[in-house]
Amino acid sequence: MIQEWLRESKHTVVFTGAGMSTESGLPDFRSASQGIWRGIDPAACASTYALHHNRDVFVDFYRMRIKGMLACQPHVGHRIIADWQRRGLVQAVVTQNVDGYHQQAGSDNVIELHGSLHTLRCLRCEQRYPAERYLLEGGTQCECGGFLRPEVVLFGESLPEAALLRAEQEMAQAELCLVLGSSLQVSPANLYPRMAKENGAKLVIVNMEATELDYLADQVICDRKIGEWLLETDKAL
Ligand code: APR
Repeated sequence: MIQEWLRESKHTVVFTGAGMSTESGLPDFRSASQGIWRGIDPAACASTYALHHNRDVFVDFYRMRIKGMLACQPHVGHRIIADWQRRGLVQAVVTQNVDGYHQQAGSDNVIELHGSLHTLRCLRCEQRYPAERYLLEGGTQCECGGFLRPEVVLFGESLPEAALLRAEQEMAQAELCLVLGSSLQVSPANLYPRMAKENGAKLVIVNMEATELDYLADQVICDRKIGEWLLETDKAL
């Protein structure tokens, strides 16, 4: 049935969360087995408070995340979504992920609601550097002496206006919204699949655990991993 929806939909938006990258080797945040927030309080390491008052913990946390992101890579699921875009089956990817794996796999029109872990920005002069710098000795310092922070949205910060606007425009046109690997617990990101549904789109959620929007979905797939489901669906198209 979903194959028909994919073929018939004139505007399909894929919405992804951390569950999209676990098969690449990156942990997600809230799954019972491996979620990062199972062992760490996000406020202590990934917030504006941590950036200004807990800097060592902040740097250690993002060094660990950057190391993981650079060591891993997109998996077949990311490549299938990029292929569906090339074939006109998907028009946009709205992601909460900061790993850039959709773009690396060949997707375009990727809207990053929570920024990108691939770039660092100086708090003082706004100069930007590649994330690899964080792994070097003294890598948190800008040439001007300022402190470098990753260009991700921290807890306590608002999401980039331009991304929010683009996501809204995509969901307004969506006839089909595929949610892949998100618990849909974090707002305002979790408002976008809801927006698509309210605008008349069909909503499909592929997630190993229950999500906040399962009750709204036209179909919930919770017994297969995202990579497997994308492979199967692609074969049946
Ligand atoms: N296949 C299917 N589902 C999976 C897979 C997989 N291979 N791997 C993980 N999942 C599911 C988990 O069961 C979990 O419910 O993906 C979901 C990921 O949910 P979260 O860990 O909450 O991640 P996400 O929804 O992206 O979190 C949103 O919270 O901490 C912030 O900024 C961070 O962007 C993140 C936001």
